[in-house]
Amino acid sequence: MQRRPRRNRNSPQIRDLVQETRLSVAQLVLPIFLEDGSDVRKKIPSLPGTYRLSVDQALVEIEECIGLGLDKFILFPAVAEALKDQMASYSHAAENYYLEAVRQIKRRFPNVMLISDVAMDPYSSDGHDGIVLDGQVLNDETLPVLAKMAVAQAEAGFDIIAPSDMMDGRVGVIREALDLAGFQSVPIMSYTAKYASAFYGPFRDALDSAPKAGDKKTYQMNPANKRTSLIEGDLDLQEGADFLMVKPAVHYLDIIHLMKESFDLPIAAYHVSGECAMLMAACNNGWLDYQTAMPEVLTSIARAGADVIITYFAKDFAKMSV
Ligand code: PBG
Repeated sequence: MQRRPRRNRNSPQIRDLVQETRLSVAQLVLPIFLEDGSDVRKKIPSLPGTYRLSVDQALVEIEECIGLGLDKFILFPAVAEALKDQMASYSHAAENYYLEAVRQIKRRFPNVMLISDVAMDPYSSDGHDGIVLDGQVLNDETLPVLAKMAVAQAEAGFDIIAPSDMMDGRVGVIREALDLAGFQSVPIMSYTAKYASAFYGPFRDALDSAPKAGDKKTYQMNPANKRTSLIEGDLDLQEGADFLMVKPAVHYLDIIHLMKESFDLPIAAYHVSGECAMLMAACNNGWLDYQTAMPEVLTSIARAGADVIITYFAKDFAKMSV
């Protein structure tokens, strides 16, 4: 035999030498679910290991993460039902606790990087990402709401604005609004190829944000489609996005790969709640080994081409890396 691929797997050292993908804590982002109040630390039953936290508890969590070398977070607000309305007006209200939370986090830890999701669903009485009228999710009417929300988030101190709503034209409108408000240097991480996936269930449990009627198929992408991600990517690029995101991640590795090959912007992947919950369930049953299966999954996402990975496992991976 002339060719023996096993020679390059002889020892830990040689395997290390030829390793192609090196996952680093530097590329991970941890989602944090917030709730108004203090001393709140509520388990999310469908997502073991993840909690709904009040700001004081979030500060404790962030401090722990910083100690592990993890300093990038994406925040999501749980909003009381009474504060929700058709126009998601609480999303940019002066008394919004989520915006206040960011100010507090930034005051305490000026160097952490905070991403904010832009979409109406946590604030909408309809549980949709846009304005609902007669059962339709309106596109153009939703854009100014998203722009207002984005500017309010940038003003509060978020470092990156991440529109997840899938309305047409949102990146351009948000870019223009941010620039007009003096936030030319705040990047947009667009949820570019966001699919109408069944894997967002635990997230919607965490925020009580599920649609009250219907589904999200008129705005989120059909899981059976691949080339649509190129149309979305082209538009986001033209409209000024700084990152392109694929969501979910593990079941969409082909899309991550395609986006990486097709665009020169950094590619982010959102390893979503249902994907993490699946693995957790198997591990908690003793069917899979968390310590080896979890890093293998994250490595697969990076190998497919993701530069940035948003994952509920970020803290656990950071623990394993110190
Ligand atoms: C809001 C949003 C969702 C997720 C991120 N941003 C839910 C949805 O679109 O229904 C899902 C993230 C996850 O499942 O971890 N639009």
